[in-house]
Amino acid sequence: MITDRLDFAAELARQAGDLLRQAYGQTIQAEHKGEVDLVTEHDLRAERLLTQALREAYPGDGILAEEGGQSGSGDLTWVVDPLDGTTNFAHGVPLFCVSIACLRDHKPLLGVVYDPLRDELFAAIAGGGVVMNDRPVRVSTTPSLDQSLLVTGFPYDIRTNPDNNLDHYARFAVLSLGVRRLGSAALDLAYVACGRFDGFWEFRLSPWDFAAGMLLVREAGGTVTRADGGPDLFAEPTSILATNGRIHAVMLEGLRKGDSARQAPLSAPGAEGPAREGRAPRAR
Ligand code: IPD
Ligand code: CA
Ligand code: CA
Repeated sequence: MITDRLDFAAELARQAGDLLRQAYGQTIQAEHKGEVDLVTEHDLRAERLLTQALREAYPGDGILAEEGGQSGSGDLTWVVDPLDGTTNFAHGVPLFCVSIACLRDHKPLLGVVYDPLRDELFAAIAGGGVVMNDRPVRVSTTPSLDQSLLVTGFPYDIRTNPDNNLDHYARFAVLSLGVRRLGSAALDLAYVACGRFDGFWEFRLSPWDFAAGMLLVREAGGTVTRADGGPDLFAEPTSILATNGRIHAVMLEGLRKGDSARQAPLSAPGAEGPAREGRAPRAR
């Protein structure tokens, strides 16, 4: 039963989250995986806790985990990010989470994102809606880009790859209410799902960053595609656009514009929805 699996994943996310919360704030030794890509002993400890428990409970499933890679194989695959937001965690910034999804053929059947510092657990089953701490949540109702609060992230090769998202960041920063950069893609997606953000985009994420979060957004009534509008989020190079649905088309239009078109305005801000005064209340 998929609900048993969801309960199991939620319990595991809480256990891994407890471990991270206890370590948070202590002096944390971080090692570099890449120039700006960190890993700590706590990523590894949390991942061990998750993968050992999953392997014991579901020996016939595959597991794809950020630090350990692929192990086993089966009809279903668990996709695990034991600590999404490692750079924040290592610097004492209170924005990180545990992300667990269970997939069949690249389709998430369940997803859990747990923020241990706020004790917020987002959980979804395909076709079953999404809850935050057992309360149903929905994406926002914000109708237009100029009223939208967005969030994005930048790839770890930002220093060397000219295709580093800074052009899109500059464009959307002036067209929207603001663009945040939390440093945890799974939390970014959870926040779109519960209406705190209206849209999120990023390039070159890994499956463990978005597998749970993409389901949360879809189950909350939002729209999730590649940044070019395509359906396969797992195709390389990966990209993601997750929105409340209402601003999806205009954001896709923006993401299609390259550097040379940076100064070109999109459809007039607000064109995709009726003009309003003030801000629509957040859907909760
Ligand atoms: C990272 C975070 C970040 C995103 C990076 C991810 P990590 O995951 O989700 O927001 O911009 O691309 O790799 O390394 O903290 O698990
Ligand atoms: Ca991650
Ligand atoms: Ca991670």
